[in-house]
Amino acid sequence: MKKITVIHGPNLNLLGQRDHAHYGTLTLPEINDHILAYCKNVGIDCTISQFNSESEIINELHQLQDVHGIVINPAAFTHSSVAIRDAIDAISTPVIEVHLSNIHARESFRQTSLTAPVCIGQISGLGWNGYLLALQYFVDH
Ligand code: DQA
Repeated sequence: MKKITVIHGPNLNLLGQRDHAHYGTLTLPEINDHILAYCKNVGIDCTISQFNSESEIINELHQLQDVHGIVINPAAFTHSSVAIRDAIDAISTPVIEVHLSNIHARESFRQTSLTAPVCIGQISGLGWNGYLLALQYFVDH
């Protein structure tokens, strides 16, 4: 069974009360339920975590060198964290970046992702379905 880890970045624990127009109305536990139901269906062994600090995300990435793939929404760190980018670059585990909102259609400071160039791909703007699409990639590859 393939092992996949999903990492949610800062402030995503507040989904449900954050801007519904950009992030939808589901809470993080509700999104995680969709992720886990999908994983059960396709036979993925999935772990999910959420961190508000940059160092916790980096430590988690360092520890995940034995999993098949990582799906990460680095949230605001996408646009600022050279350290998370370097951690993704340093590990050999393939990483897919997911954003609920279309970061390319938002404020200019959100349109740059420091992390996407070291990921195998980015899914942005498809809401929580983006996580399932990223997982589907790892089922097929
Ligand atoms: C986000 C987009 C980021 O710009 C923002 O800081 C987030 C969420 C998204 O999923 O659309 O917190 O990563």
